[in-house]
Amino acid sequence: MDIKEHIRQIPDFPTPGILFYDISTLLADADAWQVTMGRLANAVRSHQPDVLVGIESRGFLVAAPLALKLGCGFVMARKRGKLPGKTVRYEYSLEYGTDIIEMQEDAIAPGQRVVVLDDLLATGGTMAAAVALSRQMGAEVTGAACIIELSFLGGRNKLDIPVTSVVAYD
Ligand code: PRP
Ligand code: MG
Repeated sequence: MDIKEHIRQIPDFPTPGILFYDISTLLADADAWQVTMGRLANAVRSHQPDVLVGIESRGFLVAAPLALKLGCGFVMARKRGKLPGKTVRYEYSLEYGTDIIEMQEDAIAPGQRVVVLDDLLATGGTMAAAVALSRQMGAEVTGAACIIELSFLGGRNKLDIPVTSVVAYD
């Protein structure tokens, strides 16, 4: 099955000149979504994770069902100020300014094997931040995976672990 056929491309969103890759149409198609999750599961299983980290918000859609499928725990990496209790944070650079992601301080035990999941890898800044945050908590990050990779942006070059994508755009 060609998963690209199920990803809708919307020009000029969120700003003029940007082509948005919309996974809504993939999520809404039961067969295509099942095939996508099956391919991700095969790749991610090989990293033998204890825990999957999903990056808010679209990364949750990928990581939570995959964790159920693989029998792993699921941990949320959230945008700033969303998680209760004590958190560990990581600040990273954007094109203009910085952003922060957080996890609860007891979300990952030192030495646990972690795979980080998101829907899309673009510049790689978000994924690299989630990997760094997981390591800050003592995780052994064994891989990263996403549905869509925008290869022309070179995001995987920011990552020093194996990265799996289901579809890539050159
Ligand atoms: C999008 C996408 C990835 C990130 C990729 O998230 O879901 O998380 O951007 O970009 P990067 O590789 O250049 O860092 P977004 O911040 O738009 O938020 P959302 O997931 O909450 O929709
Ligand atoms: Mg996102």
